[in-house]
Amino acid sequence: MKTRVLTGITTTGTPHLGNYAGAIRPAIEASKATDVESFYFLADYHALIKCDDPARIQQSRLEIAATWLAGGLDPQKTTFYRQSDIPEIPELCWLLTCVAAKGLLNRAHAYKASVDQNVAAGEDPDAGVSMGLFSYPVLMAADILMFNANRVPVGRDQIQHVEMARDIGQRFNHLFGQGREFFVMPEAQIAEEVATLPGLDGRKMSKSYDNTIPLFSSSKELKAAIARIVTDSRLPGEAKDADSSHLFTLYKAFASEEQAAHMHADLGAGLAWGEAKQRLFELLDGQLSESRERYHELLARPQDLEDILQAGAVKARQIATPFLAELREAVGLRNFVQVAATGDKKARKVKKAVRTVSFRDDAGFRFRVLNAAGEDILLSVAFADGRAAGQVLKALQAGELELRQEGLQVQALQAGELVAQSDSLADETACQDVLQILQGLAAE
Ligand code: TRP
Repeated sequence: MKTRVLTGITTTGTPHLGNYAGAIRPAIEASKATDVESFYFLADYHALIKCDDPARIQQSRLEIAATWLAGGLDPQKTTFYRQSDIPEIPELCWLLTCVAAKGLLNRAHAYKASVDQNVAAGEDPDAGVSMGLFSYPVLMAADILMFNANRVPVGRDQIQHVEMARDIGQRFNHLFGQGREFFVMPEAQIAEEVATLPGLDGRKMSKSYDNTIPLFSSSKELKAAIARIVTDSRLPGEAKDADSSHLFTLYKAFASEEQAAHMHADLGAGLAWGEAKQRLFELLDGQLSESRERYHELLARPQDLEDILQAGAVKARQIATPFLAELREAVGLRNFVQVAATGDKKARKVKKAVRTVSFRDDAGFRFRVLNAAGEDILLSVAFADGRAAGQVLKALQAGELELRQEGLQVQALQAGELVAQSDSLADETACQDVLQILQGLAAE
């Protein structure tokens, strides 16, 4: 079976260079391999957690869809969809919510960060924390487990979430699998080289730090953003330490090994920061201009984008719909008619498994009942002849005998007379089991 690779991108904001280098580009590259099956989706339910501006949500979904396609994602070869087009995902999310330990989610970094901030500000620890934020990792687990992804390319900040998906999936398997592993265990995959790209100020490139370089902006905007990259104050001609410069880190993320080595040496030899920025601009502009053009073409044809994503949803649901049906079945959300049918089957099984034996000993004619394991569970009194014994056995099978528990013994009575009884049983549960089997005999 092919390895399933799955990743989502939260649709808030416009994709920036960090998203591209850290997630989109490696994902698109990986999707070209022949031994993988790729699932890429717009995590627009996740977007709602952080954003209550409908116009921004809508715009961002559109831009991100266009970005992935412009970047070279092939919607024929991959499964490319919007999370919100797959109703099975929130449904699975609820099944998982019911098995996810709250204590596990208390430890999620994103939630803990909010709590820490609140506490530091002297606020209620949960101030401004929605259930969406708190349950974020469960929804992400549903995204991953719905398609039984083997590998999940993510940024470092998401590793914990993938681990939580494993935890939650394992717990579900354990509780409902009955030996079957519904969910495979996903592995987070980090592209070591470019896992997180630094932003203009050297911190991780992120919308929340407002330090991003836009991806498909015009050349002019790209140049302006690069000009704002913070460098140290070494003058032209002074040796610069490339390895401690995030400008170089950015360069390296897009350059060939040879180009990077060249830049490294030139900075050491005193290349001016302004020159270095110009080289970075040329590198990026050269690499991005073609996809930038495709991107703007796609944005101008929203109906085409819509069609592509609808087709992706159909493809995704071909997997999600039957799988969710199995999971619903496993937790007990079953069609009533099927429940009755399974009930019948069980009763038949009991009858088949339970045996009755008529025999004769020194005292007279008797019968006994054996459970599925072949152990005696009931022995009749001795009757004067075989016919009398047979009639009582028939009455037992017809449910006409009174069954009762006396201490740790089960007894069968006919017209107030004891006609059969069990040995002294181990405990209350054993008595209940025997009673149930005997009643099952009657329920044929
Ligand atoms: N939380 C991820 C992020 O912010 C996006 C995401 C949502 C995701 N669901 C996912 C990534 C499932 C991988 C798999 O980057």
